[in-house]
Amino acid sequence: PYYHVDGELVPASRATVRVDDRGFRYGDAAFETLRAYGGTTFEWDAHAARLEATCDALELTHGLSRADLLSRIDEALSANDLADAYVRLSITRGVQPGKLTPDPDVEPTVVVYVGSLPRGGLEGTPVWDGPAALETVETRRIPNDAVPAAAKTHNYLNGILARQELEGGDEALLRDEEGYVAEGATSNVFFVEDGVLYTPTIDGPVLPGITRRLVLECADDAGIPVEEGRYRPERLRNADSVFLTNTTWELRPVGSMDGVTLEEDGLMRDDDPTDDDRIFETL
Ligand code: PDD
Repeated sequence: PYYHVDGELVPASRATVRVDDRGFRYGDAAFETLRAYGGTTFEWDAHAARLEATCDALELTHGLSRADLLSRIDEALSANDLADAYVRLSITRGVQPGKLTPDPDVEPTVVVYVGSLPRGGLEGTPVWDGPAALETVETRRIPNDAVPAAAKTHNYLNGILARQELEGGDEALLRDEEGYVAEGATSNVFFVEDGVLYTPTIDGPVLPGITRRLVLECADDAGIPVEEGRYRPERLRNADSVFLTNTTWELRPVGSMDGVTLEEDGLMRDDDPTDDDRIFETL
């Protein structure tokens, strides 16, 4: 495979970042995980906008245009002859002398990593292995007055600690400091109750997921009522159905929560369409 590093396509074995790069040293970097379908980067503008918001939050001025970044992704996809793919784009604050305070003159390190990923959706094969086992963990989502949850940075320790707490489950459910559901370690969470679709508000410490937004738009188009609010884990445990979203999983049903099998596991059944299935049919 070939990856894009600092404007050049290099073989994977030579795709390296220096040890004094701030992305390695301090996690001082912004990133996006994207997918390409049929060779085209999905929802590029939305990912580019979120990347810009992350860079703004970090005051990381890299000077690269959206068009430049997209052309690096395109080059990496074609060099590897990839149509349906996983794409990870990272921008670090680059190599700087070893002090925490950043130098305003930034020579960013830009990496595009790509890999084959089969198409999911209703026509393809999901990347996940069956419904998720979701577990509420003690690790809390870092509040927005620290590094804002909307910033997608290389520092994933919050989610890593949450995943390490899992006792056999697939995804950790993080609450905010007041105990309201925020999100999964790498996913947004939804639940359905009496035909209404609920999801934690992004006013809380929740990454504004691109997939999350698409699901809300689809629900809106399908006339499904939606509420964004603050919910306790008990609401999810008692819901008609629960599912997770992120770019790689797309939509992943939740089969159990905190070891209790949810009533509506395996939401993607075709045989017995219920109101909830409408949400999936529209995607
Ligand atoms: N993560 N919340 C968190 C904490 C995430 O890390 C992610 C995505 C999401 C979902 O966002 P989106 O729908 O835009 O992918 C929510 C990606 C997949 C990752 O960690 O690589």
